[in-house]
Amino acid sequence: MTNLVTKYMGIELKNPVIVGACNLVINVDNLKRMEDAGASGIVYKSLFEEQIQLENLQMFEEMQAFGNSNAESGGLFPDIDHAGPEEYLMKLREAKESVDIPVFGSLNAVNFESWIEYSKKIEQTGVDGLEINLYSVPTDVEIMGKAITNEKIDILQAVKNTVKIPVAVKLSAYYTNPLYVIKEMDKLGADGFVLFNKLFQPEIDIDNEEMRFPYNLSNHDESRLPLRFAGLLHGNINASICSSRGIFTGEDVVSMILAGADAVQVVSTLYKNGINQIESILTDIARWMDSKDYKTLGDFRGKMSRQNISDPFAYRRAQYVDILMKSDEIFKLFPVK
Ligand SMILES: Cc1cc2nc3c(=O)[nH]c(=O)nc-3n(C[C@H](O)[C@H](O)[C@H](O)COP(=O)(O)O)c2cc1C
Repeated sequence: MTNLVTKYMGIELKNPVIVGACNLVINVDNLKRMEDAGASGIVYKSLFEEQIQLENLQMFEEMQAFGNSNAESGGLFPDIDHAGPEEYLMKLREAKESVDIPVFGSLNAVNFESWIEYSKKIEQTGVDGLEINLYSVPTDVEIMGKAITNEKIDILQAVKNTVKIPVAVKLSAYYTNPLYVIKEMDKLGADGFVLFNKLFQPEIDIDNEEMRFPYNLSNHDESRLPLRFAGLLHGNINASICSSRGIFTGEDVVSMILAGADAVQVVSTLYKNGINQIESILTDIARWMDSKDYKTLGDFRGKMSRQNISDPFAYRRAQYVDILMKSDEIFKLFPVK
């Protein structure tokens, strides 16, 4: 009998599959379906600074005029029509009360004061933990990377000083050395790292010569980046490692745990394959564990992490060295047309 129990942010979860923040979770029926399908936790849709500032009419008008360009806003909060923070907090409390599995709040603020004020308010809804979504979209050529890193570290410190519930940091991969940022945040007592957030990149509509911000669901290849970092971090930090991005199947979850993840978050696979995909993922993890005679996740977690594999270069390769060295190999896979 396989046991899928894991620990995330100090909380025991019945399995490693958490639903990530997205618009599906706004609907209470969907939350119940996620719980029935076996999800071990749910991250509620983020509270965005735009919602906090909604009172500010000018901001509201800008949003109407230019669409929702905020990273990860995913169409912002279409199902909580023009909801300000109070309505959002009410919905979050409702979500928490509608399921028995842990529900995590998620905050996406900009102003320092908003991080503090709203992490406290989110905690008061009774959620089990808080995810803070830290990213920065560089637009200013004068700002050094270090200043941005320090600002993010200060935000975590302030939030940790404000709330008692566990705090996970959902992080951007666009730091010169994400490992350093993670290590510094780990020292401040971050309880988990969600690796990584996904920023919505614009497209250009060439017919109308306009910017477009399409919904961008992930593809499977994106899971390689969080896989690499789970493998690099395993055994090096106290906080939990939660892999996110491009995780679609049980096989993907097994790979993440082999690399060293404690849990994973899934979103795109639920949009593409339906909420019941959670059940298939769990069945496939258990089947694979049975085939290997693993009884618990601890039997194989981190087995393929940097510290546990013999190839010292496996996590260093950045270029397609093999392809460069054996230049004919690629032609076997992709014959020249
Ligand atoms: C429609 C939609 C809405 C999302 N809303 C949020 C959000 O409110 N907060 C957040 O941190 N991430 C949000 N995300 C990002 C997801 O939580 C997740 O990080 C991203 O989709 C990558 O995971 P995936 O590859 O499993 O989709 C959203 C994604 C989608 C597709």
